[in-house]
This record gives sequence, structure tokens and C-alpha cells, in this order.
Amino acid sequence: MSSEIKAKISAVGHYLPDYVLTNQELEKLVDTNDEWIRTRTGISERRILKDPDKASGFMAAEAAREILQQKNIDASEIDVIIVATVTPDYMFPATACIAQSLIGAKNAFCFDLSAACSGFLYALEVGSNMISSGQYKKVLVIGSDKMSAIVDYTDRTTCILFGDGAAGVLLEPAEDENAIIDSIMHSEGDMSQNLIQLGGGSRNPASHHTVDKKMHYIYQEGRPVFKRATEGMADVSVEIMEKNQLTGDDVDWLVPHQANLRIIDATARRMNLDPSKVMINIDRYGNTTAATIPLCLYDWKDRLRKGDKIVLAAFGGGYTWGATYLKWAM
Ligand code: UT7
Repeated sequence: MSSEIKAKISAVGHYLPDYVLTNQELEKLVDTNDEWIRTRTGISERRILKDPDKASGFMAAEAAREILQQKNIDASEIDVIIVATVTPDYMFPATACIAQSLIGAKNAFCFDLSAACSGFLYALEVGSNMISSGQYKKVLVIGSDKMSAIVDYTDRTTCILFGDGAAGVLLEPAEDENAIIDSIMHSEGDMSQNLIQLGGGSRNPASHHTVDKKMHYIYQEGRPVFKRATEGMADVSVEIMEKNQLTGDDVDWLVPHQANLRIIDATARRMNLDPSKVMINIDRYGNTTAATIPLCLYDWKDRLRKGDKIVLAAFGGGYTWGATYLKWAM
């Protein structure tokens, strides 16, 4: 191993709201049906944070609390909190600061990262390099999204897709080769209009007009996003495998962003992976944006073994996409 400090994932935590929004309930809201949703997306139900006083910051804090408990460490030991989100509690201050206050991580410096569905992977890349710098020893990287806050429940093309949730990891310096090994990240800003929340920012500040035109909800051109996501996630996953001389047999797990089961299946096929090695929980949680990948790690953590070779892959608004290769350290 080179003298470079590498980061390892040393704990995983999560938070999911209790309320389960089923396909059957959505059938009562829009012209859709369970069969269409399951066959076109793989989703059966999602979680919704109903309490109007709670949002992404609360969920991020709950995920962080679980990590602190697992590691039996005090919040004051955390050096950095990065929250990946497209549903921040406020335009500012950062949701990471809200979470910091809730858990009492008084020594942490805290900021948000906006990369939509690739947010967790981007934040992991930033956090991992902060560990490599030698300056930080304990970095919390959390994906938290209250998608129900920006979903239009009269739009059948988007309201069936998204759910609420948070999950994250603790990064610490690795002692051996079981660490984050490599990553490839991409962006394509020319395509930003295909997946966007138009209202509420400095371009279209909130006004009667933006509310009347439903500009505070998610807007998605489903088909082009689907096509590009399928190419992008598969290409970057194969690229990171080739770069690290990995075959489909070598990879123990694929942890894909959970946007559509058909995109996940296509990625696994291109990687030549046995379907049993693919983490899938989209059926239960839908697309929780920045939380999907760490939620998978959380759900599978008891089945992962030290040294397992894992590829994480995501594609999302921006466009943003990427893949990370790591060896499990827990
Ligand atoms: O996570 C970030 C990145 N996002 C993604 O990766 C999402 C990518 N896109 C997708 O996953 C898919 O495009 C969707 C799931 C959003 C849509 O599936 P699709 O197979 O691409 O459907 P489509 O948009 O081509 O629509 C097919 C038909 C249309 O009817 P017509 O025009 O053929 O009569 C839609 O109006 O399905 C109709 N449709 C629905 N029918 C029942 C669209 N939504 C629904 C619905 N229920 N909820």
C-alpha cells in the first residue's frame, strides 16, 4: 500500500419515516395502477415524512445519531459533516448545520453538497479526499432527502417515483487496503433542464407566478433521462472496473442508485454481474435521491464481509453521475 492515507467506511446509519405510501394509495390520487408502477419502475411503496415540523436536517441527524451509537463516540469528535441533498431545510443555512445542532457536533465544520441523485457519491469523494489530506479523522457523509416536499402529487409521471429517507457513513483513515480505492465522477450541465426544480432559487424566486406555474415541484423529462441514465451508469461502472482490472466475477456487490429497476438491471448486465450481487431496495423505498446508496449499504451491512469488493454507481440531475470502488472495511 502506498503511503497515501485512504478513507474507510467505519459505520453506517439510517433514518426512514414510518408512513408507508403504497401504489394502491397513489391509485387514488392519480391515474395510475400498481401493475404499471411495478413493471415500469420496480417500486411497490415508499416512506413519507408526514410531520410538517421535520425535514431533511432531522433525518440526517437521526442517521448520524445511529452512527455515533454504533461507534460509541461523542458528537464532539466529528470533524466534518457533509449532507448531500436537493431538499435542504432552507435555501440557507446549510442542512448540515441543522443536523450539527441537533446532534451537538460542536467541533465539526458543516456544509451541504448539491448533486441530486449522485449527491452521496460526490460527497463521498469529497469526504474521502478530506481524510486523505491528513487534516480530518472523522467525516460524516450523509444523504438526506425529503422528496415529498417537492413532489407534485397530481403528476403521475413523477409522484410514483420518489420517497423520503436518509442514510450515511462515517469515514475514518484506513489501516489497511480495505478502503475507498478509486472513483470516477462526471457532470453534463448542458442537460440541466431535463431534471430540475425551476422555482425558489435566485433565477425564479418564489412568487405567486412560480406557485401558480407549479415551479416548486420536480420537473422531469422521463424518457431522455432514462436513456442517458442507463448509458451513463453502465458506462461509468464498466470504466471503473476496467481501470481496476476487475471482472464481473471479482466484484462482490453493486450498490446502484435506485431510480428505476430497469436502469439497475441494465447496469448489472453490462458489468456481467450475477443478479444476486446487486443491492435492490427500490421496491420498498422508491427513489430517495441522495439517500439510496447508503440506505442499501445499511440494509445489507450484516451480509457484507471485510474485503468485499464493492462498486457504487449513480446517475442524476445535472446531469451528474459516477462510480466508486471500495473494499469493505467493517
Ligand atoms: O434518479 C434520477 C434520475 N432519474 C431517473 O433515472 C428516472 C428515469 N426515467 C424513468 O425511470 C422512466 O422514464 C419513468 C419511470 C419516469 C417513465 O417510464 P417510461 O417507461 O419511460 O414511460 P414513458 O414516459 O415513456 O410513458 C409511457 C406511457 C405514457 O403514455 P402514452 O403516451 O404512451 O399513452 C405515459 O403517459 O406511460 C404513461 N405513464 C403512466 N401510466 C400509468 C406515465 N406515468 C404513468 C403512471 N401510470 N404513473
